[in-house]
Amino acid sequence: NNSQTPLSGGFGGKNKISEGEASVAFSKSDRTLEIWDSAEADFLGVDSVEALVDFEKNHLGKKSKLAEISKNLKNLDSADEKKRIGGEVAAFRRFFEPKVAAKMAEMREVALDKKLQREWIDPTKNLPRKKGAIHPISQVQREVERIFSGMGFEVADGPEIESEWRNFDALNIPGTHPARDMQDTFWIRSGRGSSDENFVFRTHTSPVQIRRMCARGAPVRAIVPGRCFRNEDVDSTHDAQFYQFEGLLIDREINLSHLRGVFETFFAEFFGKPVEVRIRPGYFPFVEPGLEVDIWFEPPGKSGKWLELAGAGMTHPNVLKNCGIDPSKFQGFAFGFGLTRLAMMKFGIDDIRLLSSIRGEFLGQF
Ligand code: FA5
Repeated sequence: NNSQTPLSGGFGGKNKISEGEASVAFSKSDRTLEIWDSAEADFLGVDSVEALVDFEKNHLGKKSKLAEISKNLKNLDSADEKKRIGGEVAAFRRFFEPKVAAKMAEMREVALDKKLQREWIDPTKNLPRKKGAIHPISQVQREVERIFSGMGFEVADGPEIESEWRNFDALNIPGTHPARDMQDTFWIRSGRGSSDENFVFRTHTSPVQIRRMCARGAPVRAIVPGRCFRNEDVDSTHDAQFYQFEGLLIDREINLSHLRGVFETFFAEFFGKPVEVRIRPGYFPFVEPGLEVDIWFEPPGKSGKWLELAGAGMTHPNVLKNCGIDPSKFQGFAFGFGLTRLAMMKFGIDDIRLLSSIRGEFLGQF
């Protein structure tokens, strides 16, 4: 048992190393503890931070032989032996501890240098780049905003979660009205029941009409692009999330011919070529009369069909009243376009689901 016999050989020369003495200032003959040789050999072999940590553990740590020898000091017989070996333990520490610290610092620096070399990048280097693109819906939104700005419309915004009151009631769609079933709604119930305390994922951008009129009154000339949500069966032309843009123009002496003029200007600019537009009567509780706007859609290589693009009409007097506007002084029109569908037409996209996918090969085309 080594711990019982800590000395590996005879002892000669100095037998005391005083506190503060430099670690190198003692001769080989002082190093009588057997652990010296193996420690020196191991230290020479240290070639990594991990190996150095191991070295420290094995030779200086709590479970090292050195620790064992220290612990056994008290069992030694003579006071001289205790003093001598105690001194040697201290000397061993004084010799190796600074060596370990210096080596650690040196190796950390080398490791950092290597890492810097490995990870060095040249930001000025001209690598081939993957080109990004603006999403087709964003492109269309910007184009719509540009065209309507040119006609004096401001671009307004509203939240995607709306009160039941703004999404339905204020738009002349009371709770009992069958028109609520026209839009399959994602409800967020507060449980309190009253329509200004229940919330929905807005089913259309029309609640922003209410926000705008209630906040600033008449006249108004605004468009509102934004995302809408409906609990729909998803197919190639219907998604559960899609984009619309609302339009609202309230002023004095406004009639349907103004609506038609705005639509004609918009279509001519947006498509830049003649498109077939069909306007037919439609029902929306917040307009009277109401219109549906369809457009002839012929995706490349496929047969064409009428695609419902927008709802529109003259703003219902009840809606104006709900927002504190006097319908005898102000009239106007509103419309709600499917922005996602406009993008499909503009780019000949035959499946709406592609627009919410992140497929690079699809999006990279635009
Ligand atoms: C409305 O949402 C009315 N708020 C529009 C309106 C505004 C009428 C102002 C009158 C005055 P509608 O449910 O028809 O109406 O939707 C309008 C357009 O949104 C549709 O013509 C269509 O282009 C688009 N749309 C509706 N549902 C979806 C869907 N699931 N996926 C993609 N586009 C849709």
